[in-house]
Amino acid sequence: MDINLFFTHTFKENENQFENSIVVMCDVLRASSTICAALHNGAKEIIPTVNSEQAMNIYTSLDRASRFIGGEQNLHKPAGFDAGNSPMEYTHDKVAGKTIILTTTNGTPLFTKAKSSKMKIIVAFVNFNIVLDKIDDLIKQNETTQEYQSIDLICAGNSESFSYEDALCLGGIVEHITQDNDNFKLNDSARASRNLYLYHKNDLFGFLRTCDHAQKLIKNNLYDDLDICFTWNLYPVLPIMEGLSIKKSNI
Ligand code: MLT
Repeated sequence: MDINLFFTHTFKENENQFENSIVVMCDVLRASSTICAALHNGAKEIIPTVNSEQAMNIYTSLDRASRFIGGEQNLHKPAGFDAGNSPMEYTHDKVAGKTIILTTTNGTPLFTKAKSSKMKIIVAFVNFNIVLDKIDDLIKQNETTQEYQSIDLICAGNSESFSYEDALCLGGIVEHITQDNDNFKLNDSARASRNLYLYHKNDLFGFLRTCDHAQKLIKNNLYDDLDICFTWNLYPVLPIMEGLSIKKSNI
């Protein structure tokens, strides 16, 4: 199997590029982490949208009792939204049973990519191990079914630039998949991300707090979000895209 990594989601996607691919999508700060928090706290589903207008159009079409709209523009809650993009805002009392319409700068546009894939998984540090277990299961099953030809790992990136936290999270996935199995062909981005993970793994979160997006959150008084997003396996849920929405999957 091939393992391909993409440092941002803004690549030109060919129509059936991911039809035989296990796709793993990552926006550590903060959309993937927020989605894990919401599903952990009982949300029915999350519908990712590309902008606030699309989000509000879907939101107003839904039943009042079951809808919730959240996300960020320039890191903060847009007018008329129920929540911003901090995982702390998606508490059980607010989101249990709800359909959440979410729009963020990089994360939700990422989640709308790879439409041809039959398996789209959302990962962050807060659900790292459960995603690894799922990937291990899929690889084992694929030895018999040969259903998948590749594992494609896609970073949200940070405003179309490299995101260190996304690359290290997915680099950790690459390391765990390949550490006891050399039957994979890695592209350069996957090899680079694995090497970066191995270089930083002894002080991963200390280093990531010095990086661009973390520093931007700190400057916007969103420091507490780092304590959540930089916690291993805080929300052990498996978010998988089903059609246009993200739902909690049983293993
Ligand atoms: C994104 O989608 O770019 C992020 O989730 C932005 C944020 O920190 O809310």
